[in-house]
Amino acid sequence: MDARPEGPRPGSLVGRGAELDDLDGLLSDVADGAGATVLIEGEAGVGKTSLVGTLRQGAAILGLDFRLVRAAQADGRPVGLLTDALIDPSAAHGPVESELVDLTAALTDGHAQPQAIARAAELAAALVRRQSDKRPWVLVLEDLHHGDTGSLEALVRLAREGAVPGGFLVMTMRPVPHRTELATTVAAWTRAGARYVELRPLAPRAVVDVAERLVGSPVGPALRGALATTGGNPRFASDVVRTARAHGALEERDGVVDVVGTQWLDSLDEVVRGRLEYLGVEVLALLEQASVLGTSFVVLDLAAMSGASVPDCWRTLRHALAAGVVRARGDRLVFGHDLCRGALYHGLDAQQRRVLHARAAWALDRAGAPSHVVSDHLARAR
Ligand SMILES: Nc1ncnc2c1ncn2[C@@H]1O[C@H](COP(=O)(O)OP(=O)(O)O)[C@@H](O)[C@H]1O
Ligand SMILES: [Mg+2]
Repeated sequence: MDARPEGPRPGSLVGRGAELDDLDGLLSDVADGAGATVLIEGEAGVGKTSLVGTLRQGAAILGLDFRLVRAAQADGRPVGLLTDALIDPSAAHGPVESELVDLTAALTDGHAQPQAIARAAELAAALVRRQSDKRPWVLVLEDLHHGDTGSLEALVRLAREGAVPGGFLVMTMRPVPHRTELATTVAAWTRAGARYVELRPLAPRAVVDVAERLVGSPVGPALRGALATTGGNPRFASDVVRTARAHGALEERDGVVDVVGTQWLDSLDEVVRGRLEYLGVEVLALLEQASVLGTSFVVLDLAAMSGASVPDCWRTLRHALAAGVVRARGDRLVFGHDLCRGALYHGLDAQQRRVLHARAAWALDRAGAPSHVVSDHLARAR
């Protein structure tokens, strides 16, 4: 029997052993000249960047080149993601690089012309193949959901021939509703046999491990309680610890660190609301209304309460669902992280909250909810 205590290996990520082994195996295959492609999908803060970051060390050990670039939201540069990855501005450029640089400069200045983008995509794809021929390498493209059209087109071209020998192509993305170009890229690589890794939230024990690493000792019940609201998201877990620490709310007693007081919670709410901003005002406005209904709610009630039609409500919620902020449970939706529901609810001012509770009471009453639930909302509406 294995008598080792359960828990994280020092220096490794918590709860990601299987994923790390998987990536290590593929890295070795690439070092031996094979090609590999991995698509890593997971909610914001779940650990995509941390996971792909571990490849840097593995690549160095195996003598592989390592390149990592990140797509930025609203980066208008045509083929920007791949040119960042493929063109070294300080090195001498061959004819292919020069043509790509000239083309992207012309595209940035003028209107995006589909033919020119197609040519740039062709050149970028050729450069990926050439680099892989020269020396095995790892190319990490982060946050592909923000990827520009030209880069995605180049990736589709590459996918048509399958994994590039000597190349380990790793792409990360959030499960936002995919725009057409991204869906096409993912489909092309899926057909080409890319490995798909869905990075799920961590188990509750692993979340405690993340916190214990940050504080350097076991954590007490109040801190565990706060960690239980993070829905398995390590970024939220570290937000909890860092915010409590910044407010001097962490105290050690008998070797156990726990959180004291409640003042730090307002700052935590603010941090969490900041984390959710990427969802956009429309989605957040609807989620704020949902937060009044509770940790779980029925979409029909939310629609009635918000005055939106049910299909419109779904269209907006689709984004929150894809992002993992709410999760589907039968005919209900559940907030994936209590922390987020609380932060949204606490972000409403007193007047907004009263109005929304009154509307919730009306919607729930009409839908036949028990009278004590309705009267509870009415009490908060006063
Ligand atoms: N498995 C893990 N164990 C410990 N900490 C983690 C783990 N995954 C992520 N983190 C921490 O959580 C935060 C968010 O991780 P990150 O990799 O940036 O998420 P993503 O790229 O999916 O948005 C970082 O501070 C990171 O150090
Ligand atoms: Mg990231």
